[in-house]
Amino acid sequence: MSISLVAAEGGPDSRAPKISAVKIFKAGVGTVLGMLGTDDVTRHPESLLAKAQGLEKQGVTAFILDGSYKFSQVHTFTGDLRKDITLIPPIIGVGEIALADHRGPQAGFRDLAKLAAEARVGGLLGDKPGLVVVHMGGGKEGMDQLFRLIEETEIPQANILPTHITRTQSLLEQGARWGRLGGSLDITAHATESKGKITLGEALDFLRQKGVDPTRISLSSDSNGSIPRFDEEKNFIGWSVGDISDLRTEFLRLVGKEKMSPEKALIFFTQNPAKRIGLS
Ligand SMILES: [Fe+2]
Repeated sequence: MSISLVAAEGGPDSRAPKISAVKIFKAGVGTVLGMLGTDDVTRHPESLLAKAQGLEKQGVTAFILDGSYKFSQVHTFTGDLRKDITLIPPIIGVGEIALADHRGPQAGFRDLAKLAAEARVGGLLGDKPGLVVVHMGGGKEGMDQLFRLIEETEIPQANILPTHITRTQSLLEQGARWGRLGGSLDITAHATESKGKITLGEALDFLRQKGVDPTRISLSSDSNGSIPRFDEEKNFIGWSVGDISDLRTEFLRLVGKEKMSPEKALIFFTQNPAKRIGLS
């Protein structure tokens, strides 16, 4: 899941390449969910939709999200997010919208609530998940607006899926609280275990200790999305591209290094994300 087709934050010479069906199949993946991120200027929902249709023709099951990081003035096909989700087959929700990130829209809570409401109703009318995928940055507000959303509105928690929740320890702790309340969480796969980074094994252990139901946790690749690096003053200092094969690396690591049974490990990569996007 989570095949983003975004440009990098280092300018036009750092646009991430599009993924191929061959690469998807080689990684052992059959279903993808595509979305835009930071770049909704040189990347467009129309080309994302065409990419999904192309992948479908090549045998990949492909879904997409409307919009991008923005959750106000969202770019849609029909001018109406609800209509898009209801009527356009591969669109199952909106996102990934960005919270707690300097690249996000810094829009207000009401904008977020309205967007989630549109996705919710579009999902009902179209018999789709109406999912709001939320890119969580490492900023100080964390998931505060998401907790407000479920406390102050009638939007079901099941419509909201925060991702990148192992980015910081405080985000993971908020994620555990979100999960205990019955919400779903998404973790981004990483092939490398660099110093200071929370590993998948550590995150799953932590969430288990905090009482989060493992069926609420999914893994995604962020494949072909840009992974920029910024220094402490938020200056861009480099970037890489998400790799879909990181999913397999993480799975093998869970089974090998963490000694998890393949049956237990597989649900994070298969059954759980399938449920989130409305598949049986
Ligand atoms: Fe993201």
